[in-house]
Amino acid sequence: MALLHGTLLFTILSIVSSRSILTDDPIFGQPEQIHISYGRDPTLMIVTWVTLNQINESVVEYGQDDMFDLRATGNVSIFQDSGSEKRREYIHRVVLNNLKPGQRYFYHCGSDDFGWSSLYWFTAMRNDSDFVVRTAVFGDMGRDNAQSLPRLQEETQSGHFDLILHVGDMAYNMDIDNARVGDDYMNAIESIAAYIPYMTCPGNHENAYNFSQYVAKFSMPSSIGTYGGDSNHFYSFNVGPAHIIGFSTEFYYYTEFGFDQIFNQYQWLEQDLKEANTPKNRAQQPWIITMGHKPMYCTNSDDTDCINDGGYTIIRTGLPFIEAYGLENLFAQYGVDLEFWAHEHSYERLWPVYNETVYNGTKGAYIDPDAPVHITTGSAGCDERHDPFGIRRPWSAFRNNDYGYTRMNIYNASHIYLEQVSDDQHGKVVDNMWLIKSKHGPYSYFE
Ligand SMILES: *[C@@H]1O[C@H](CO)[C@@H](O)[C@H](O)[C@H]1NC(C)=O
Ligand SMILES: *[C@@H]1O[C@H](CO)[C@@H](O)[C@H](O)[C@H]1NC(C)=O
Ligand SMILES: *[C@@H]1O[C@H](CO)[C@@H](O)[C@H](O)[C@H]1NC(C)=O
Ligand SMILES: *[C@@H]1O[C@H](CO)[C@@H](O)[C@H](O)[C@H]1NC(C)=O
Ligand SMILES: *[C@@H]1O[C@H](CO)[C@@H](O)[C@H](O)[C@H]1NC(C)=O
Ligand SMILES: *[C@@H]1O[C@H](CO)[C@@H](O)[C@H](O)[C@H]1NC(C)=O
Ligand SMILES: *[C@@H]1O[C@H](CO)[C@@H](O)[C@H](O)[C@H]1NC(C)=O
Ligand SMILES: [Fe+2]
Repeated sequence: MALLHGTLLFTILSIVSSRSILTDDPIFGQPEQIHISYGRDPTLMIVTWVTLNQINESVVEYGQDDMFDLRATGNVSIFQDSGSEKRREYIHRVVLNNLKPGQRYFYHCGSDDFGWSSLYWFTAMRNDSDFVVRTAVFGDMGRDNAQSLPRLQEETQSGHFDLILHVGDMAYNMDIDNARVGDDYMNAIESIAAYIPYMTCPGNHENAYNFSQYVAKFSMPSSIGTYGGDSNHFYSFNVGPAHIIGFSTEFYYYTEFGFDQIFNQYQWLEQDLKEANTPKNRAQQPWIITMGHKPMYCTNSDDTDCINDGGYTIIRTGLPFIEAYGLENLFAQYGVDLEFWAHEHSYERLWPVYNETVYNGTKGAYIDPDAPVHITTGSAGCDERHDPFGIRRPWSAFRNNDYGYTRMNIYNASHIYLEQVSDDQHGKVVDNMWLIKSKHGPYSYFE
């Protein structure tokens, strides 16, 4: 009996398994983690997404009134996670060309054979002189406790923003659970990042396996027209009257991945700033705005760098002993106007500051100031909660510890408006300022 049963079972199993060999295994190819980013000029938009199986087609169907009359194809690259499961993900990147400035496009992405995403839309970057660039700026948003995300989604989908700057630290962390936390995060931010460009710089939470998750999943523009990879560490783009630079403060801390990355980035920054300062370029993009994760100045009481040095000294003055590759001088020398930071889970606005000294403008602190303005905005919400404040320093103008994010409107060559939104207080604006400049360029001590 036992033998007969065994044979029967074997026969049934054979039939079942041969059936699954004869019929094709279904392949799950649904696009996920969809997000967009700006290219090097207003006529481009980059669409990036992930499939969890190897789908070899990367297609975006898009259009204006006739929704899918245009079709663009791109490339897929394999990302292998370094966790124990060695999971693979397939990263699809498609560049949309020749977009009409200011035109709204509908799109979905995927492939004919393996399915399409939901329908999304974006507005191609405007290039007219009336373009007010409305930006959301924040850092330190996790998969868990992403408290600002619903409000950001509401404002994004109702058309209040043109782009997002995420100033490092995301997911907490992208590598955890064999990269599934990163997948969850990327899927969660689809509600904003599939509609407006989501421009990023890396934070310390992205450091796992040499920043490989971060490098694989975003698509920041390089100067030679490629997207993603190393350009996710440092890059620049123009939007309206602003030249925006994203860079890595983390090269200075995770030197086990290569000291040369500090030098390479510094050289690139200097070159990029030089170009941005040619009279022609500075006339077109008078504002130079940077974003990097770890702040040159901070007054939080749970961070030894803030307590002992008032900020991340290595970023500000350079590597210990040799004092090289510091960014405060470089940025002041080329007249950077505004510097965004995060890492501290709070909001702090500084008076115009250089070398720990306040350089207010003569007609008002932020009217033609003689130093860059620093804003630290790292309170979007994550499972590490808040960072409290300690002793106030003379350069610290305003501090707030609610969850929230910054809104920045770049009006024209002379006016930028900034405000801090508190999510704890249901969207109340808890701080605001105008930065007004009649001229842009190197500060007086560099002329
Ligand atoms: C994609 O291409 C690879 C390599 O050529 C192949 O192994 C895989 O089966 C292809 N995927 C699909 C869904 O056709
Ligand atoms: C796809 O790869 C080809 C060849 O490597 C390259 O020329 C092209 O720019 C890539 N396209 C995208 C969207 O990255
Ligand atoms: C904006 O883009 C349109 C279409 O590409 C072009 O014709 C126009 O000259 C551009 N305007 C400016 C101010 O660059
Ligand atoms: C880390 O990645 C960068 C490129 O993103 C590469 O240049 C560097 O060699 C890598 N470092 C190590 C130790 O693998
Ligand atoms: C910064 O200020 C200190 C004095 O507080 C001075 O010794 C130093 O030379 C200044 N550095 C620069 C680059 O101006
Ligand atoms: C800068 O301006 C602000 C606002 O007017 C003022 O409170 C602060 O004391 C000024 N700081 C210096 C050093 O002048
Ligand atoms: C720039 O924008 C500000 C704020 O809207 C406005 O007050 C100012 O007049 C504008 N300047 C020019 C030159 O348009
Ligand atoms: Fe951080």
